[in-house]
Amino acid sequence: MISRVQCRLLHTTAELLRKTPAEQRWLARQLRDPYVKSARQQNYRCRSAFKLLEIDEKHGILRPGTSVIDCGAAPGAWSQVAVHRVNATASDPKAPVGFVVGVDLLHIPPLDGAVFLPHSDLQEPVVWARIQETLPAGEAQVILSDVAPNASGIRELDQQRLAELCLCVLELAERVLAPGGTLLCKFWDGAHSRLLQNRLAALFEEVKTLKPAASRKESSEIYFLAKRYRKS
Ligand SMILES: C[S@@+](CC[C@H](N)C(=O)[O-])C[C@H]1O[C@@H](n2cnc3c(N)ncnc32)[C@H](O)[C@@H]1O
Repeated sequence: MISRVQCRLLHTTAELLRKTPAEQRWLARQLRDPYVKSARQQNYRCRSAFKLLEIDEKHGILRPGTSVIDCGAAPGAWSQVAVHRVNATASDPKAPVGFVVGVDLLHIPPLDGAVFLPHSDLQEPVVWARIQETLPAGEAQVILSDVAPNASGIRELDQQRLAELCLCVLELAERVLAPGGTLLCKFWDGAHSRLLQNRLAALFEEVKTLKPAASRKESSEIYFLAKRYRKS
């Protein structure tokens, strides 16, 4: 008779064998990744939390009292960081209380201190209106965008789809971002980078390109950090 542990081991092995080579490679990478391990230990919903933590530590974009929009928020790791940094749960009674609204096409598990708008497409102006209605005073000081389309595997097509999403986030910014506000926007470096950078430079006083340590070296992912929004 086999023990319960042996039974679980057999089950896991059978599961692994059922995976495609690409899925097996993904799993092996996840198991080796120190950020995946740290995310589990620190109760973050995914490893991307460490990208925002690093950017915020270096560039100080999230302060107590700030109102934040988290675009492409699922599963909610950036929102976890933002809730803590802006004091959205009033965990520090002496500091101003901030606000976080997260938006995604997908379901986002609830998070204390954040308001989520799931099943919402950032390309729809009706969603921009719902975000604005949700925000205190109808405006945000910071917009975070880690939004990304499902990768098709065709590099140029994926970059173009992400560029379209980023331009929608910029339209949202023109509607709800407070003068002097900040936009942090993920992008896949390529043919459209210059166009997006130029659009940002026209709207913000300062635009920096960042590659946080938690962003995989082999990925073309970069972040544009645009500061001091010039509201017309
Ligand atoms: C890399 S994940 C974001 C991870 C998130 N920052 C976190 O830390 O948990 C990108 C997200 O963008 C969302 N997304 C893609 N297209 C979207 C759209 N048109 N509107 C809203 N969300 C979208 C995806 O559903 C996905 O959850």
